[in-house]
Amino acid sequence: MNQEYGQDDRFETDADEAVATRRDAGDAESSRASRGWWDRNADEYQNDHGAFLGDDRFVWGPEGLDEAEAGLLGPTEGLKGLDVLEIGAGAAQCSRWLAAQGAKPVALDLSHRQLQHALRIGGEVPLVEADAGALPFRDGSFGLACSAYGAVPFVADPVRVFREVRRVLRPGGRWVFSVTHPIRWAFPDEPGPEGLSVAASYFDRTPYVEQDERGRAVYVEHHRTLGDRVRDVVAGGFRLVDLVEPEWPEWNGQEWGGWSPLRGNLIPGTAIFVCERED
Ligand SMILES: C[S@@+](CC[C@H](N)C(=O)[O-])C[C@H]1O[C@@H](n2cnc3c(N)ncnc32)[C@H](O)[C@@H]1O
Repeated sequence: MNQEYGQDDRFETDADEAVATRRDAGDAESSRASRGWWDRNADEYQNDHGAFLGDDRFVWGPEGLDEAEAGLLGPTEGLKGLDVLEIGAGAAQCSRWLAAQGAKPVALDLSHRQLQHALRIGGEVPLVEADAGALPFRDGSFGLACSAYGAVPFVADPVRVFREVRRVLRPGGRWVFSVTHPIRWAFPDEPGPEGLSVAASYFDRTPYVEQDERGRAVYVEHHRTLGDRVRDVVAGGFRLVDLVEPEWPEWNGQEWGGWSPLRGNLIPGTAIFVCERED
């Protein structure tokens, strides 16, 4: 972690009174909401999901797809000695796995509290507190970048993030990230049968916002269609190599929010984009 929060970075809010709505939310408002939300909710997140994630595994999402089997970052032997940037790293579980393969990961996250959990778990991975939209690294610092549900679903301008990732990657470097599968936006975010009927337009890109009594966002998620995501990847200067939609495995009986065996067996819950920097 490179700095403590200044008081002016925070704002007082009664997030318990937050009301859900759909409305526009720009970059600055989205980032501020994410930082506050993840600081307030990091303890619960790690408490609820830490065991499933494992302290030093690389899990791509609630389906439980493990990088050790998936190999989306390329052959494991290729990770040895590689400089890797993990974006929206949370408690840096994925970075710990990368370090165990001989890579040299850096774990970046916007949330101070998430990174405190990384310190609690331990290990040697350098931690950086920063926004994915303004990466504090020199051009060409990394050979690989990755993110398991970190930052991308929460930013208003994903192309800005992708351009930043491209800048800090070396030519030919891979950028692999997972997000909520766009089709989920058409359904209620419920794990049971009520989550199986279309309730909203897939094509409505209006962000999901929870806001406090003064109308300030305390949680924001941004929707992009599958086509939008592909166009964003290309606009960011990448070539799309693969788009992985993990199937729900038989061994996984756990629910994670709206992700459940019931829905996972019928509709995709996660999309993983495997990209390479265009030179
Ligand atoms: C769903 S969690 C995923 C964390 C971790 N990758 C995992 O699999 O447990 C999303 C993470 O993205 C971080 N995040 C959200 N917006 C961000 C941004 N603009 N820049 C950097 N990190 C961000 C949050 O603080 C949070 O730790």
